[in-house]
Amino acid sequence: METKKVNITVAGKTIQAREGETIIHALWQSGLGHEIQTGCVGGVCGACTVTLRFADGRQGSTDLACLRPVEEGMEVFPFPVDALASPPPVSDPNEDQLRATFPTVDRCTKCDNCTIACPMGIPVMDSVLRMQKGQLEAVAEDFTTCIHCGLCRAVCEDKVLPHTMGIWVRRSLGMSVDHPVLDQASKAEMSDREELEWEHLLNCDDEERLKRAKNFRKEGTIVL
Ligand code: SF4
Ligand code: SF4
Ligand code: FES
Repeated sequence: METKKVNITVAGKTIQAREGETIIHALWQSGLGHEIQTGCVGGVCGACTVTLRFADGRQGSTDLACLRPVEEGMEVFPFPVDALASPPPVSDPNEDQLRATFPTVDRCTKCDNCTIACPMGIPVMDSVLRMQKGQLEAVAEDFTTCIHCGLCRAVCEDKVLPHTMGIWVRRSLGMSVDHPVLDQASKAEMSDREELEWEHLLNCDDEERLKRAKNFRKEGTIVL
């Protein structure tokens, strides 16, 4: 049975897509993959965030092109949020280190735009207020489901950088936890293999790199 076709518009270009496929698959099929950034293609990284308008007058929304199925008359607008270098995490972070790394934290005017924009329902503004008070464990908890779409950053007129700070807190607390047994075991077992893998990654040709990546995906382990 032939799959039903629907028409969607992406950045002003109308294309035909197969009903049920995701926006990103429809773009790839049409040779327009470059219109939208992608990363994980699994709803985790937020690189493919788009804004949507619907033909039946439903309120528009933001969504992830790698997860959202196409529908007739859907209009898709790429949402370019430039990558921003993230300051390195620190061990045992505290309020002062957060402030020194991100002086933007005190610029928050409590407009709540970031919370409204967040597609994951994260209480972004409340979390920024927790950052100001140094409640970092709670902040890390808040950002557990962050998909890095950057919407909270894009809508913040005061350029507070909420999710960059939230992720910094998560990473900093994460690297402050000791796992002595695990650390020892993985260091002993992995160091030689990791070093060799780095050598391959830095030196081998594109074909070899692709072969190794495919193999890793299949086997789930580095083969030297
Ligand atoms: S959008 Fe910016 S200023 Fe507004 S609440 Fe969020 S962080 Fe604060
Ligand atoms: S916190 Fe910001 S970056 Fe994370 S999912 Fe929400 S809007 Fe996206
Ligand atoms: S590509 Fe990572 S969330 Fe869509």
